[in-house]
Amino acid sequence: MTNNPVVISGAGLWIPDNTITNEELVDSYNAWAQAYNGEHSAEIAAGELAEKPLSSAEFIEKASGIKARYAYVKDGVLEVARMRPRITPRGEDELSHQAEIALHAARKALTSADKTGADIDMVIVSCAYTERSYPALAIEVQHELGITGFGFDMLVACSAATFALQRAYDAIAAGSARAVLVINPELTSPQVNYTDRDSHFIFGDVSTAMVLEAADTCTSAHSYEILGSKAQTVFSNNIRSNFGYVARAEDTDVFGPENLFHQNGRKVFKDVCPMAAEHLQQQIEAVGLDVADVQRWWLHQANLNMNQLITRRLLGRDTTQAEAPIVLDEFANTASAGSIIAFCRHHEDLNSGDHGVICSFGAGYSIGSLVLRKR
Ligand SMILES: CC(C)(COP(=O)(O)OP(=O)(O)OC[C@H]1O[C@@H](n2cnc3c(N)ncnc32)[C@H](O)[C@@H]1OP(=O)(O)O)[C@@H](O)C(=O)NCCC(=O)NCCS
Repeated sequence: MTNNPVVISGAGLWIPDNTITNEELVDSYNAWAQAYNGEHSAEIAAGELAEKPLSSAEFIEKASGIKARYAYVKDGVLEVARMRPRITPRGEDELSHQAEIALHAARKALTSADKTGADIDMVIVSCAYTERSYPALAIEVQHELGITGFGFDMLVACSAATFALQRAYDAIAAGSARAVLVINPELTSPQVNYTDRDSHFIFGDVSTAMVLEAADTCTSAHSYEILGSKAQTVFSNNIRSNFGYVARAEDTDVFGPENLFHQNGRKVFKDVCPMAAEHLQQQIEAVGLDVADVQRWWLHQANLNMNQLITRRLLGRDTTQAEAPIVLDEFANTASAGSIIAFCRHHEDLNSGDHGVICSFGAGYSIGSLVLRKR
C-alpha cells in the first residue's frame, strides 16, 4: 500500500435547524421534577419514593463544557407532559428520517471529495442507534445516491465512526472497494431520558460523512493519508442503552428508563481517560511518530474536562483550541460524530506534511483512532 496509500478525501457535516440551550432544558426538566414531586409528595414524605433532584445550567457547563445542542425535532422535548421529541412517522414508501439526515451529510462529503455516486463502491452507515433493523439504512442511502456495489449498517456507540473508517480503510487496502462513503447520522434525541437529571443534557443530533479512496484516484483539494488505524474494545456496563426487540417478548417496559441511555458518568470518566491516552500514545508510536509530531487532535466530544485530561497526559501541558478543537460546547455529545465534526470544522488550515489524529472513546468501552498526514 505504500505506493498507493488510502486517503480521506472528503468530509461533510449537516446540522439540524433547532437549538436547545442548557437554560431551556433545565427550565423544562425542573418544571417536570417539581410537578412529579408535587404529585408524589405523600410517597416521598413516607420514604417510598425518592424526590427528583433539580438540575442546573451552571452545573452542566462546569461539569461537561456543554452549552447547547442541536435537535432534529425540538417539538415535544421541552413539553413537561411529553419530555421527548414528537417525530412524525413516515410510511414505507417515504425516505426514512435517518436516511434523510445521512444523505444531507453524504452529499456534502461527496462534493468535498470531488466524487459522485458512480465513484463509490461501498456505503457504511455507522452510528449509535438505527431507527430500524432492516433493510439497512446504508442500502436506502446507496439507492438514493445511485451507487452500485453494497452497503451495510454498523453500531458501535461512540466509536461507530472511527470503527467504520477502519473498515473502509481495510476494504480499499484489500481492493474490495475503490472508494467508500462512511456516514454517521446520529439521531440521539429519541434515546435521551429528558426526565433524568444526570443525563438529560448530554446528547445532541447531527450527521457527518467521509469519503475514503486510494490516493491515485484522489482529486480533492484537501486529503489526508491514513498512516495507521486501531480499534480497541474492553467490556463495561458503565454506559448502557438496553432498548431492543427482545423487550416485546420479555414483557418489560419497552420505554422504561433502564432501556434509555444511562451511565455511571464518574466511573466512565475515570476508566476511559487513561485508556484513551495510552491507546493514542501507542498508536502514534506504532506509525513511527512522537506525540509532539501531531499538530491537530480531533478528539471525541463528550466532556471538555475529559479531552483536557487526555491531552495533558499525552503532552504534559494544556492544548489550545487550535491544537485540540472543542465543538461540544455548541453540539453536546453527538455520539460517534463528535471527532468528525471537529475534523470537518478544523482541517483545511493544516499544511502539507502536518499530522492529525481522529480518536473516539465511549460505550463498550470502545476506542478507535486514525493517524493522518495531510498531503
Ligand atoms: C456526566 C458528567 C458530566 C457528570 O459530571 P460529574 O462531575 O461526574 O458529576 P457527578 O455525576 O459525579 O455529580 C456530582 C454532583 O453534581 C450534582 N449534579 C449532577 N447532575 C446535575 C445536574 N444536571 N444539575 C445540577 N447538579 C447536578 C449532584 O449534586 C452530584 O452530587 P450527588 O452525588 O449528590 O448526586 C461526567 O461524569 C461525564 O461527562 N462523564 C463522562 C461521560 C461520558 O463521556 N460518557 C460517554 C457517553 S457515550
